[in-house]
Amino acid sequence: MNLFDVYPLFDITPVKAKDVFVYDEKGKEYLDLYGGHAVISIGHTHPVYVNNIKEQLSKLGFYSNALQNPLQKDLAEQLTKFSDCKDYQLFLCNSGAEANENALKLASFHTEKKKVIAFHNSFHGRTSAAVAVTDNAKIIAPINAQQEVEIVGLGDLNAVENALQKGNVCAVIVEIIQGVGGLNESTQEFYQGLEVLCTKYHAVFIVDEVQSGFGRTGDFFAFQKYNIRPDIISMAKGMGNGFPIGGILISSKIKASYGLLGTTFGGNHLACMASLSVLEVLEKGNVLEHVKEVSAYFIEQSKAIQQIKKSKGRGLLLGLEFDFPIQKLRENLIVNQHIFTGNSKNPNLLRILPPLTIQKKHIDHFFEALKTELNKFT
Ligand SMILES: Cc1ncc(COP(=O)(O)O)c(C=O)c1O
Repeated sequence: MNLFDVYPLFDITPVKAKDVFVYDEKGKEYLDLYGGHAVISIGHTHPVYVNNIKEQLSKLGFYSNALQNPLQKDLAEQLTKFSDCKDYQLFLCNSGAEANENALKLASFHTEKKKVIAFHNSFHGRTSAAVAVTDNAKIIAPINAQQEVEIVGLGDLNAVENALQKGNVCAVIVEIIQGVGGLNESTQEFYQGLEVLCTKYHAVFIVDEVQSGFGRTGDFFAFQKYNIRPDIISMAKGMGNGFPIGGILISSKIKASYGLLGTTFGGNHLACMASLSVLEVLEKGNVLEHVKEVSAYFIEQSKAIQQIKKSKGRGLLLGLEFDFPIQKLRENLIVNQHIFTGNSKNPNLLRILPPLTIQKKHIDHFFEALKTELNKFT
């Protein structure tokens, strides 16, 4: 049987990884500045993470959400501490798309309305409502296109208010820093304005932190910079350091009832243990401070390279913008320099999404390699 061929693959087979390095079957070492698409937070195969998951697996890997699972409560408690999201409730699922799907569904239940406002260049996942609020017509199948969605410009509060005035809007969903869209970020005025407008028009304010959450920007959540309180926050990726887990934090003004949301695998014992281990390492290793420090170093080093027109993003959710398409450069970095980086909807943007444990020496190594490859272009 063949695999369903939906991914253009690089010809590399990783079999092992440690911290910021990935190794192929021949033992070749790759510096991972992609983090499996912003997934690896505390570094590959971190010993705390590996040991905790092994130990949990030897006791209980899974049981249904019909019984008590104290690990879910531990995770909720730890998340309150990290995010300062007091008075929120936690619902756990398995991926980023599923987190947004549940967020949108909940918004619709809560308001009894059905239209959603989203933004140009947004990416929220590939399931039904999540893909409908994603600004990419190519990945929206006719069955998804039945959702009522209005896409407006990021930063355009007038457009948001015009759309809200038309009525029947259950939610506004936004990434504070757009990941796949190319690291665009608007202003404090805009994000605070969204909160005010959502309250005024009784729409649920959803912030998608699937890519930006769990310390990637140097804050636990990217929205914390703007002094706002979203009604729902969705998360996944770095939450499990590679173990599939997602979730939503839900404001206490949205009331739960039996049957409203549900999942078989979401919040299982192994997934909770993976995420608790991530939080343990983030705390003990003072990782958020480290992210701010290495991010500043990265941005400083980038200024010395004249071909870089602009650096974008925050923390270790970064992008380097060139005035030419980076596809070939990215390929050359992998093939010649053994360095993984990311791309985005912006063809000129090379994305940098490393494990949060990356050190300055790795950054130095990257810039040396980048210079070598750029010199071949000119
Ligand atoms: C901001 C954002 N939301 C949602 C998703 C979808 O997450 P998943 O691939 O886990 O379904 C992604 C994935 O890249 C993302 O970047």
